[in-house]
This record gives sequence, structure tokens and C-alpha cells, in this order.
Amino acid sequence: MKILVTGCKGQLGQELHRVFDAEIPDVPVVYTDADTLDITDANAVERFVSDCAPTHIINCAAYTAVDRAEEDALLCSKINADAVMNIARSAEHCGAKVVHISTDYVFDGRSWQPYREGDTVNPRSRYGTTKRKGETLLLSICPDTIIVRTSWLYSALGANNFVKTMIRLGQEKSRIKVVYDQIGTPTHAADLAKMILTILRAPKWLPGVYHFSNEGVCSWYDFAKAIHRLTGITGCAVMPVRSSDYPTAAERPPFSVLDKEKIKVSFGIEIPHWEESLERCIKEMSNQ
Ligand SMILES: NC(=O)c1ccc[n+]([C@@H]2O[C@H](COP(=O)([O-])OP(=O)(O)OC[C@H]3O[C@@H](n4cnc5c(N)ncnc54)[C@H](OP(=O)(O)O)[C@@H]3O)[C@@H](O)[C@H]2O)c1
Repeated sequence: MKILVTGCKGQLGQELHRVFDAEIPDVPVVYTDADTLDITDANAVERFVSDCAPTHIINCAAYTAVDRAEEDALLCSKINADAVMNIARSAEHCGAKVVHISTDYVFDGRSWQPYREGDTVNPRSRYGTTKRKGETLLLSICPDTIIVRTSWLYSALGANNFVKTMIRLGQEKSRIKVVYDQIGTPTHAADLAKMILTILRAPKWLPGVYHFSNEGVCSWYDFAKAIHRLTGITGCAVMPVRSSDYPTAAERPPFSVLDKEKIKVSFGIEIPHWEESLERCIKEMSNQ
């Protein structure tokens, strides 16, 4: 086995690095990010993958600024869709298997049932639309790929995420507003990284689309309250507001809970509840 990781400086990329170092130290892993392998450069990807000759490519690279994507549509599409095609073509040429990460934002959130892998997609934002396009391009070129859709990702290693923003605002402000009518599930990137390792270690390669988040359900408001409770922030009131009172450039799904039955049964795993994983992340942050 030889693994190529793209987007290694992102939240998931860094968590993968940590998990691979600890769990599979003898497996060669090549870590790249935009400065060493710009995945939008088709020739560079082809050359790099052909020289590296990985057995597995894990694509953690993405354009993830959901609101900025509405104005920056071209770059977002290049990274989340066209570049995924570059990876798919190179993987196909060298026979590498691909693990690609996608998002709950491929759904419109009009359902009130946790989304299953085969449910109709209908992204409402440019980010979601380009991520969906990346999925279809990849599947058309490498049908035996594994796509893991996840949601509300955070990590102690991330430069920017909801957990870090809530801690910063909680320390700076006496009152903040957080929406209570968008429901989903947070995902600790460390848990997703472990999941990816489980996929790689499975006795059989099981291609397809899978959903993975932590267990449980909450609103962004509940998530913010839990972050403040676990970090001991008491001087900041968290006010629940509707999405209509907090307009953003991108439309987000009001409900994007992912049904994880398929991944749990296929790989025989148990997934921690989001509050348990959040507590672990906050403990790590307080030791940093
Ligand atoms: N974050 C979330 O809440 C969330 C939710 C659902 C799904 N996901 C998906 O989960 C995956 C991992 O997300 P994440 O939160 O770890 O993302 P992230 O922290 O934003 O990391 C993405 C990484 O990709 C790099 N990158 C951007 N353009 C690139 C290019 N052209 N070539 C190579 N690398 C490039 C970024 O570098 P720069 O920083 O230099 O641009 C960054 O290091 C993504 O597929 C994302 O769509 C994320």
C-alpha cells in the first residue's frame, strides 16, 4: 500500500496525518497541499500521480468557504469539480483507488428524515453544486471509488471552524446570535480520519457513496451552547435566531442529518456521539 493525500494542510488532512503516523507508520504516505500539488493543474496531477504510483489517493483538498463560493464560483468549481476529474483520470491511469470527501450540502434539506446515500440530491449553494459535480465526475471515471459525505467538520487542528469561532466570540462578546433552524450533526475530523483508516484496512474494498458524521442531532444554536458549556464560557449570552434573521450569501439546508447505517454495517463500526467528540476536541484545544 502507498497512499497519496491531497489537501494535507486542511482540517481533515492534518487529522489523517496524525492517525496514519500513529496507526500505520510503516505505510508510505505522500502528503501534498496546493503548494506541492495544485489539483486544478491537470498536467501536474497526471505527472505527480504517475511518478508517485500510489495504490490509494485520499482527496482532502476542497474549496470550503461556503459563502465566499457564491462570488468565487469559477475557482470553487475548478477545485471541487474539475480538479476531482483530474484526480480521477490520474487514478484511473495508474490503477489507484480513490477516497473522496463530499458534503451534506448536496441535499436541499427539505426532508425531515436523515438522508440516505440514494436520496435525491438538490444542492442549493454553489459549494454544494460543485461538490455534487465532483462526485458525478469521479464516479463516471472511477466507478469503484469511495465517496464519504460528511457534515459540519471541525478539528483542534483547523485554522478556522465553528468551534474556534464560537470560542473566540464567546471571549470577545457579551451576546451572540446563532441560528436554531438549521439542523444537522457536527463531525470531529479526527473521527472521520479514523473512519478513512478503517476503510483502507477493510479486508475488501467496498466502493460506493457513504454518509459519515458523529451520532446525534443538533442545531447550530445547540452546538454553540455546548461549545461554551464545555469551554466554561459564561459571560456571553447565546441568542437563538432564525436563518431569516441572519442572512448569508449561500443558502444552507435547514435539515441535513445524514443516515449512517450503511457505513456502520459495511465496516462494522460504532460512531461516537457529537457531544463526546466535541468534549475530546475541546480538551485537546485547552492543552495546546
Ligand atoms: N469544513 C466542513 O464543515 C465540511 C463539511 C462537509 C464536508 N466537508 C468536506 O470535507 C473535506 C475536508 O474539508 P476540510 O474542512 O478539511 O477543508 P479545509 O480545512 O478547507 O482544507 C482544504 C485543503 O485543501 C487545500 N486546497 C485548496 N485548493 C487546493 C488546490 N487547488 N490544490 C490542492 N489543495 C488545495 C486547502 O489549501 P488552502 O487553505 O491553501 O486553500 C486546504 O489545505 C472537503 O472535501 C470538504 O468539502 C467539509
